[in-house]
Amino acid sequence: MTNLAIALLGQKFMGRAHSNAWGQVNKFFDLPLKAALDVVVGRDVSELAAFAKRWGWQRFAADWRAVVRDDAVGLVDIVTPNDLHAEPALAALEAGKHVACEKPLAGTLDQARAMRDAAKKHAKKAKTFVWFNYRRCPAVALAQRLIASGKLGRIYHVRAHYLQEWGGPDTPLLWRFQKKIAGSGAHGDLNAHIVDMARFLLGDEIVEVHGAVARTFVTERVIPGSTKTGKSDVDDAVLFLASFKNGAVASFEASRVAFGHQNDNSIEVNGEKGSLRFSFEDMNVLQYADATAPRATSGWTRIMATEGAHHPYVKAWWPSAHVLGYEHGFVNMAADILRVLAGQEPEAPLPDFDDAYQTQRVLEAALLSAKERTAIKLAQVK
Ligand SMILES: NC(=O)c1ccc[n+]([C@@H]2O[C@H](COP(=O)([O-])OP(=O)(O)OC[C@H]3O[C@@H](n4cnc5c(N)ncnc54)[C@H](O)[C@@H]3O)[C@@H](O)[C@H]2O)c1
Repeated sequence: MTNLAIALLGQKFMGRAHSNAWGQVNKFFDLPLKAALDVVVGRDVSELAAFAKRWGWQRFAADWRAVVRDDAVGLVDIVTPNDLHAEPALAALEAGKHVACEKPLAGTLDQARAMRDAAKKHAKKAKTFVWFNYRRCPAVALAQRLIASGKLGRIYHVRAHYLQEWGGPDTPLLWRFQKKIAGSGAHGDLNAHIVDMARFLLGDEIVEVHGAVARTFVTERVIPGSTKTGKSDVDDAVLFLASFKNGAVASFEASRVAFGHQNDNSIEVNGEKGSLRFSFEDMNVLQYADATAPRATSGWTRIMATEGAHHPYVKAWWPSAHVLGYEHGFVNMAADILRVLAGQEPEAPLPDFDDAYQTQRVLEAALLSAKERTAIKLAQVK
């Protein structure tokens, strides 16, 4: 089997999630390509040797510029903060490497567009992927299949929220609260996921944002390792309304100050023949209400999306009904990346830079709508 040498840029939260994914993927999935954990790159050089040893990376390095040009590397996996997605992605594509990048595609629309354009330019040599990992929860991939097969008929509504509670005034000024690094706050972090999920589930594009509100509740935060405070200049919550090309209407809400919601990534889709809903806090379950069922017994059905013979990704894992968790979404995505690079079909559609750029345009339209207090057509956001 051919090896694909991976270079991972970043070694903290997503660094661990991706190291685990590349390390696990060929153990659980039968695939035409093997992920080789070649080199990990990070700023904190003192931690890199231990990290590399613990997660099975052959080498470590502090300079991503040299690594993305290294002849040995086949795929560059970018898990650095949002302001450091575009530059390494462009350099890696220029060097002919495949690139997998964390979401949001970039901190700004200009950077995201440059990435989309570079991916297009190098498309003959290199493929791109964006880690919208929630698509690869079996329950979400199942929902996508059901909607694509016409199970819900015409789609009327999408109601999505991604709510967390960790971003109150006691949380220090991490990079996620600094606009120059993160681009935005809850919006790029959380709305990015649910906008992607809605586009993925419906197989349709948002054409207009009708109105939006963006709010920063906490404007000063303690600088980590200091007693001083600095400016927290990203949104803590963003809500907006939108409509899809095929006529469905949608609401999106992201917040990091919604106490009681720890990682509540939830979506509901209502169509003429029924409804589906998913919540990540109960991630193995897809709820289905069949509008064509007899009235006396109709209502929400709780589907455990854990049947190997019927549900996406599950047969690679454990016997049926042995539930999956957060990390499995990343392993499932790594499996699909390896399949696509070997010329096979992914188990569920994979987002590339162009796809993630469309999500980024929606995010931009929502911010513009909030700023201008007006509706924004996506055609206005290039
Ligand atoms: N898919 C998801 O669900 C999900 C979840 C969390 C984060 N993310 C995304 O992943 C990315 C990283 O987030 P995180 O939570 O892992 O952040 P983090 O702060 O935990 O880790 C960032 C890493 O980047 C490294 N880094 C920063 N600047 C660098 C430089 N100049 N050279 C080399 N390394 C550098 C840091 O050393 C660190 O290892 C972000 O884009 C974020 O939006 C996605």
